Amino acid sequence: MKLWGGRFKIDADKLAAKFTASISFDNRLAKYDCIGSIAHVKMLGKQEIIPSKDAVKIVAALKNILKKIETGKFKVDFACEDIHTNIEKEVIKLAGEAGKKMHTARSRNDQVALDEKLYLRAEIIDIHSKLQKVIISLDKWSALHAGMIIPGFTHMQHAQPVKFEEYIGAYTEMLNRDIWRLTNAYERTNIMPLGACALAGTSFPIDRKFVAEELDFSMPTKNTIDSVSDRDHIIEFISDCAIIAMHLSRISEEMVIWSTKEFAYVEISDAFTTGSSIMPQKKNPDIFELIRGRTGRVYGSLMGILTVMKGLPLAYNSDMQEDKIHLFTAVDSIKETLDILGILFNNIKLKSENIKKTLLKDYSDAVEVANYLVKKGMNFKDAHTVTGKLVLYCIEENKDFNNLGVGDFKVFSKLFEKDVYEVLKVK
Ligand code: ARG
Repeated sequence: MKLWGGRFKIDADKLAAKFTASISFDNRLAKYDCIGSIAHVKMLGKQEIIPSKDAVKIVAALKNILKKIETGKFKVDFACEDIHTNIEKEVIKLAGEAGKKMHTARSRNDQVALDEKLYLRAEIIDIHSKLQKVIISLDKWSALHAGMIIPGFTHMQHAQPVKFEEYIGAYTEMLNRDIWRLTNAYERTNIMPLGACALAGTSFPIDRKFVAEELDFSMPTKNTIDSVSDRDHIIEFISDCAIIAMHLSRISEEMVIWSTKEFAYVEISDAFTTGSSIMPQKKNPDIFELIRGRTGRVYGSLMGILTVMKGLPLAYNSDMQEDKIHLFTAVDSIKETLDILGILFNNIKLKSENIKKTLLKDYSDAVEVANYLVKKGMNFKDAHTVTGKLVLYCIEENKDFNNLGVGDFKVFSKLFEKDVYEVLKVK
């Protein structure tokens, strides 16, 4: 079935019809297509654009279809061009002639813009709560090791000792900013485009404010041409997803490193690792590797949507049908990743003893030693040089600060006293 055809003399070529159809992927919008249409038809009835008895019939049909969709009983008809066509066909089946009035004062251009905004709002809320779950699991993990000190790195070299909870706190800060960004994206998504019709609005006396309120949007869009040609909210959302994916890849990379024999800071539970078909001893941190690798899908979606929109003249163009591929890919990838990450940290053991050992000979108290000299009256530049020489001495003599006597310290500066061991207690 098609929503058009009157001006065509011959049927569409089979391959052309298949190529232009979007039902194979936009059927995911079915629920939102019904929800949007219910608000639209209520408005048509209220404004007496269609008889109110017809509006009632159409709304009942849409609610019926919606229930089927929500219970998984709705059968998508892949012979339809798109989901809008599919739902309209069902409405006509259930509501008869009245159903043919549903598409009054509307175009698929503003309809699809509305459907995608309804879908995106729900997905933003869902991703927000999944991010929150990961944050909670990270908080739980760090609380398990409250007060523990681990090496902090710069340039991947031991830099200064830090608290484990601060380290993990750096991850949760990233994720909190991701939530913040999504909240901003939600605000810009939450503006109602229906009523723009094809691009120029309609001569019917529609009530866009009513539709916006029915669907809980903050307001209707201002410009009809922009309403059907704007996909900024989708681009913004996928950019946010790309940043989330980048953050998750950083966390994952760290866990891959921490689980190596060389580091051995963590042990990931067998249940969340895999083995090798040839090397019996192997236990691989696949999930973290895959999260790191999946970043490619999300970056790909961002490049994809930006390229779809680049150079598009106003207003709606069929190129924009492709937006869903990128949107859905980003949504699926981020949600699946957050789901697994939300349980992964509860299945990672921190090998505290190994971590403690690595702290012993890493000279990461050097800044504290230099600061100690500054507090005793030396300028920081000289204190830095003196401490550097002290570190060099230790490296050459295979010693660490803790097994130097006060006399050893004094060789480097007379300012050193017994209380220098106090600053070394940071660990
Ligand atoms: N399937 C289209 C999309 O996803 C719906 C809008 C089609 N409009 C049109 N005039 N062909 O963007």
